[in-house]
Amino acid sequence: MNDPTTIRRLYGRRQGHKLRTGQAALVEELLPQLEVPETGSIDATLLFGDDRPLEFEIGFGSGEHLAGQAEARPDHGFIGCEPFINGVVGALTHVRDRDLTNVRIHMGDALEVLERFPDASLSRVYLLHPDPWPKARHAKRRMMNHGPMDLIAAKLKPGCEFRLGTDDPTYCRWSMMVMDQRRDFEWQAGGAQDFLTRPDDWPQTRYERKARRKGHEVWYFRYVRV
Ligand SMILES: C[S@@+](CC[C@H](N)C(=O)[O-])C[C@H]1O[C@@H](n2cnc3c(N)ncnc32)[C@H](O)[C@@H]1O
Repeated sequence: MNDPTTIRRLYGRRQGHKLRTGQAALVEELLPQLEVPETGSIDATLLFGDDRPLEFEIGFGSGEHLAGQAEARPDHGFIGCEPFINGVVGALTHVRDRDLTNVRIHMGDALEVLERFPDASLSRVYLLHPDPWPKARHAKRRMMNHGPMDLIAAKLKPGCEFRLGTDDPTYCRWSMMVMDQRRDFEWQAGGAQDFLTRPDDWPQTRYERKARRKGHEVWYFRYVRV
């Protein structure tokens, strides 16, 4: 079994290119209004003031999927986690431009936030194009390991979905192997088209668009919590 802390230690707040003035203003003014509290248990009432269904995205990149889902289901609450400040700025820009009121953000490790939700409290968890950690000796750093999956399983409501997207063949095989060992998830694929074609209610991410441009195959996995 793989301990989620292996992954947690790797991520702090991180920055790529320097923020422009408008972007810095978003971080200073909008982010504090949307931030998940730093400590303590978390639920829908704390975050949104009512007991709406909650959906959770791990590593949202630039936030296009998070924002797309939030726009499609305004009565659900969306929590997105991403340690890269440049990605957080992307998500904040979507929230502002689309007037979204149902998004909350954590700039940091997703697992640290996930473990503060009550068990069986999330309606969906998304993991889209996780870092592949391609070297075999780094395999324990992959998000698709039993430690993180145990946590995701605990927090998802029975009958609800975990979604994984990847364009990395090694990661795809690895993930299928991990999920095949689990009795708490059921793969929702009747045939190849179910994982070769992006479902209509699955907004494309930036990483996926880049992968497609490079001619990569992309795999879409939907697992239901038993
Ligand atoms: C390859 S990118 C994909 C981004 C986005 N999901 C997409 O499809 O465009 C993987 C992302 O996961 C984020 N990430 C990695 N480990 C994480 C963790 N423990 N918690 C939250 N985000 C994480 C990285 O910062 C990175 O932005």
